[in-house]
Amino acid sequence: MGKKIFIGVAWPYANGRLHLGHLAGAYLPADILARYHRMKGNSIIMVSGSDSHGTPIALQAEKEGVSPKELFHRYHRLFLSVWDQFAISFDLYTHTDTENHHQVSQQMFCRLRKKGFVVPGEQEQMYSPTAQRFLPDRYVVGTCPRCGYERARGDQCEQCGALLEPTQLINPRSLVDGSVPVVRKTLHYFLDLPAFQDRLKEFVRSRESVWRTNVYRFTLNYIEQGLQPRPITRDLDWGIPVPEEGFQGKVLYVWFEAVIGYLSATLEWSHHVAPSPSQWKDLWQSYWYDPSVLSYYFIGKDNIPFHTLIWPALLMGAEVLYEGDSGTFVLPYDVPANEFLNLEGDKFSTSRNWAVWADEVAERYEPDAFRYYLTAIAPETGDTEFTWFDFVRKNNDELVGQWGNLVHRVLSFTQNNFEGQVPDPGLTAASLESFLSERAVFLTEVAQLIESCRFRRALSEIQDQVRILNRFWDEQQPWHLIRSDRQKASAVVYAALCWIDTLKLAFSPILPRTSERLHQMLGNSGGLLGSVRRHDYEDRQGRHTVLLYEPPRDLVPWEVKDLPVGQRLGKIAPLFAKLDHSLVGQERSRLGLPPL
Ligand code: MF3
Ligand code: ZN
Repeated sequence: MGKKIFIGVAWPYANGRLHLGHLAGAYLPADILARYHRMKGNSIIMVSGSDSHGTPIALQAEKEGVSPKELFHRYHRLFLSVWDQFAISFDLYTHTDTENHHQVSQQMFCRLRKKGFVVPGEQEQMYSPTAQRFLPDRYVVGTCPRCGYERARGDQCEQCGALLEPTQLINPRSLVDGSVPVVRKTLHYFLDLPAFQDRLKEFVRSRESVWRTNVYRFTLNYIEQGLQPRPITRDLDWGIPVPEEGFQGKVLYVWFEAVIGYLSATLEWSHHVAPSPSQWKDLWQSYWYDPSVLSYYFIGKDNIPFHTLIWPALLMGAEVLYEGDSGTFVLPYDVPANEFLNLEGDKFSTSRNWAVWADEVAERYEPDAFRYYLTAIAPETGDTEFTWFDFVRKNNDELVGQWGNLVHRVLSFTQNNFEGQVPDPGLTAASLESFLSERAVFLTEVAQLIESCRFRRALSEIQDQVRILNRFWDEQQPWHLIRSDRQKASAVVYAALCWIDTLKLAFSPILPRTSERLHQMLGNSGGLLGSVRRHDYEDRQGRHTVLLYEPPRDLVPWEVKDLPVGQRLGKIAPLFAKLDHSLVGQERSRLGLPPL
């Protein structure tokens, strides 16, 4: 039996466009892991969806003078096409305004309430006398009490990552009209986080060998400072209603319900595509630390405490979704949070329009070129930097100059000298045999790096091997051998083709479109890429469009394969396009930067 893998990816707020920082931070690494595990034959599902609630949506809608629903549907539609453009293979990409998600969130709330982990209480909240309403979360800005950052948001400080309440801000201002809010009492529900203090600490400690150091330290430090009860409802009219008498006009806090999206989306997926509607239980209701289910959460570093503390607390507290279900919820196995990707020396910023917009560049360039570059500079252990100069350089030197060039040399040589067929290696010289047997070792090494979410290292191992193969081709000089020793030339070409076939596999989680094309050029059957399909349905919340992934009918497995002698190659074409250096200046000028 293969492993069962759950991959959750942060639910992006549908209030602005997606940029390459989003892709590098969560979606691309998650997709690499998902594609790899599918080829390994493990049963995996990867889910996410658009985050449609909360003050980020409400504020932006107010600003644009449209309804929150209209706003989030517009961006949700745009997000769907970005996943398509960049070949992100969500088994389900949905959103948080479906009837299913409303129900599951309310159900979780009721279970936690019943078990005493969610309790009502009076709370002091910011109230705007000018607008005559409460100002939850991001409606207030002020100075962070922890690090002194002056533009901290009411829900979280972007500078130091602290989770905040608007009332904790020093010098608070309303984001709507700049006025100074007053403090007023209001009734809310609180999550009793202190009740989980010991269990959370034990859980987090058990993750030390798996979690990245930054994720582990940040989380442990958080616990050690002492956990506080956190309000999980808000005075807001956009969101999921609190399922409780006397709470009219209040909604569940966006962060409380958005993380529940991982669970509700698995139910939705079961409903749409699984053989049985209770399939989701396989991935969620098990026993603590059950080694047969591994759940991964791909997020940016600003989302760490929600995934390493709050979500585990909700899962521990609720235990199961429905009374009488067996087992307990599976806790996160790994939370490979990335640091930030910066752009040309500054933070990506939607509001300042300092970004490379994903939908836009996918039209101007081959998306696989970005998948390559963003993996090569993945911010896995520290912030990294996207520059157009480096993008063009890596595209030309590494993709075109190394991998593309190797494939072109070997395939066209086969075309010209062996009538486009895989040649017979004859009694392959012993040295070539051992060279070929290194493929299995190589694939295992890459597999281990991918499984431990070190995608950047995995890519550099693959590129090292490409360099070795280019050197092999140069040293063997098949263009001379073909005249002096045709048998030896056949063996060399055979070895190079088989290695290219293996490299194609290793590259495929990162460069799925390119590997699919190469797979066909090598004359193989089956596929690697698969396709995404839109699915429309209607429920009591309205009409929805979601994405579903369909793997290729005959998915190529992650294993070394000897190409059959005589196999006919397909039509050969360049794998990558060389980019003109003048593009650097053009792209820089779009950002308002001078040419280099
Ligand atoms: N919407 C949040 C953001 O964009 C992320 C939510 S992730 C989830 O920062 F955990 F809530 F799903
Ligand atoms: Zn701060």
